[in-house]
Amino acid sequence: MTETRRGLFITFEGIDGSGKTTQMHRLAARLREAGHEVLETYEPGGTPIGVQVRRILLDAANQELCATSELLLYFACRAQNVVQSILPALREGKIVLSDRFTDSTLVYQGVGRGLGTEVVLALDRICCQGLRPDLTLLVDIDLETSLARAHARNRTLRQADHAFSETRMDDQAADFHQRVRKAYLELAAGEPQRVTVVDGRGDVASVEQAVWNAVAVRLGKLHV
Ligand SMILES: Nc1ncnc2c1ncn2[C@@H]1O[C@H](COP(=O)(O)OP(=O)(O)O)[C@@H](O)[C@H]1O
Ligand SMILES: [Mg+2]
Repeated sequence: MTETRRGLFITFEGIDGSGKTTQMHRLAARLREAGHEVLETYEPGGTPIGVQVRRILLDAANQELCATSELLLYFACRAQNVVQSILPALREGKIVLSDRFTDSTLVYQGVGRGLGTEVVLALDRICCQGLRPDLTLLVDIDLETSLARAHARNRTLRQADHAFSETRMDDQAADFHQRVRKAYLELAAGEPQRVTVVDGRGDVASVEQAVWNAVAVRLGKLHV
């Protein structure tokens, strides 16, 4: 399946409030200016069915959602998005940007919730048809800054567009987010050829430049 694709698959990862969504939109604009066709997608969601599942996952009222249900719902969204949206776009030669992908499940459910990474990788094999990101940008930031940013954003979003906050995950204890951040950095250290760590603490423009530098290297290699 994946060998017929011509496009490039780039994912954004990082804890809530690190700047993923902001940076993905900026990268998309920059790539479009450079003449590339770009599909922006996000998790959980990305398709009409995925958006319905997203409501269950992020509803702060669903505190009783058990860790296994949560894991399977994330992969239900992902399977739908891979088949319906991501693979078709890659076959058409587009650059696909995704705000979160399997790495999020590895660190949040595998490590954060303690389900183990093996079960996450097994579900990935079932749901993703061999699709792996060509490049993953890990926007790394300290917990204090990310929480301050996420809370400021969510205050605005609760009035405007509730669907785009990460409410239920936000409500986790600080210790959970620390473990997730650490797991992300370990994942990056284990796969340096795929995962580039970007320092998310600078202003939006300087983070954007760091993202662009990483993507330009990859574009240079694949789109000569
Ligand atoms: N580099 C930055 N400096 C300051 N504020 C930022 C920066 N990047 C993003 N923000 C703001 O912080 C909040 C969280 O950013 P967002 O892109 O939504 O993060 P994420 O998608 O990783 O949760 C938003 O309100 C955004 O405008
Ligand atoms: Mg976001």
